[in-house]
Amino acid sequence: MKKINIAIDGPASSGKSTVAKILANDYGFIYTDTGAMYRSVTLMAIKAGVAFTDEDALVQLIHENAISFKQTDQGQLVFINDNNVTEDIRQPEVTNNVSEVSAHEAVRRELVKKQQEIAKASGVVMDGRDIGTAVLPNAEVKIFLVASVVERAERRYKENQSKGIMTDFQTLKEEIEHRDLLDSTRKISPLKKAADAELLDTTGMTIQQVVTSIKEIVEKKLAEIVS
Ligand code: CDP
Ligand code: CDP
Repeated sequence: MKKINIAIDGPASSGKSTVAKILANDYGFIYTDTGAMYRSVTLMAIKAGVAFTDEDALVQLIHENAISFKQTDQGQLVFINDNNVTEDIRQPEVTNNVSEVSAHEAVRRELVKKQQEIAKASGVVMDGRDIGTAVLPNAEVKIFLVASVVERAERRYKENQSKGIMTDFQTLKEEIEHRDLLDSTRKISPLKKAADAELLDTTGMTIQQVVTSIKEIVEKKLAEIVS
């Protein structure tokens, strides 16, 4: 498999990380969850008592702490320094504040630098909100995943239930809508389909159907590159 970069963007719970992980595994590429990086900064701010509005202090936290990913038998784990924060960064307190943290230009500048460094050698599947538009504008394949908000809330609801987390469906749906609104209306690199990204509406599609559709796009692109 020729090494290329694959950018996957889309709103909350559209299936980005699930399909990105499968593609990375099948192609032998590196999976990078950029949302986990913004979530990690939010967690650091909560732990350090830094206000989500304090851009300079947030950047300072990024400079003073190392965010890293580790591949293990249990999947990809997220670390802040030596601490495994894989579970902690999914807590509601992080989820409900991450959009405020990620809207800061200087925070984005720092994290985008790290993301571009990871993708430099190619062979990366990266998911987020601005990968196709800002982080990897030259990615060979760009996918913009969407699904109806009801279906996205249902997917998250089922996921929470399977983890034993009790959530109210209506609240979950409203939280997703609120986060999408903040992410798509912020000034710096808002959630937006890149002009050259393929739009894939996954409403009613299984994970396997989505993966198959993306692989068809990848194969078409690879054929174009070699010809
Ligand atoms: O998995 P889920 O869709 O809930 O979110 P995520 O991918 O973990 O991203 C969490 C948050 O980080 C998003 O709501 C955005 O505010 C921010 N984010 C971003 O601004 N840019 C990215 N490339 C990735 C995430
Ligand atoms: O990364 P993102 O927030 O976009 O979504 P995700 O965490 O990959 O997917 C959210 C949930 O939807 C997971 O539990 C997936 O297993 C599920 N899912 C699904 O049921 N059908 C799809 N076509 C894609 C994801």
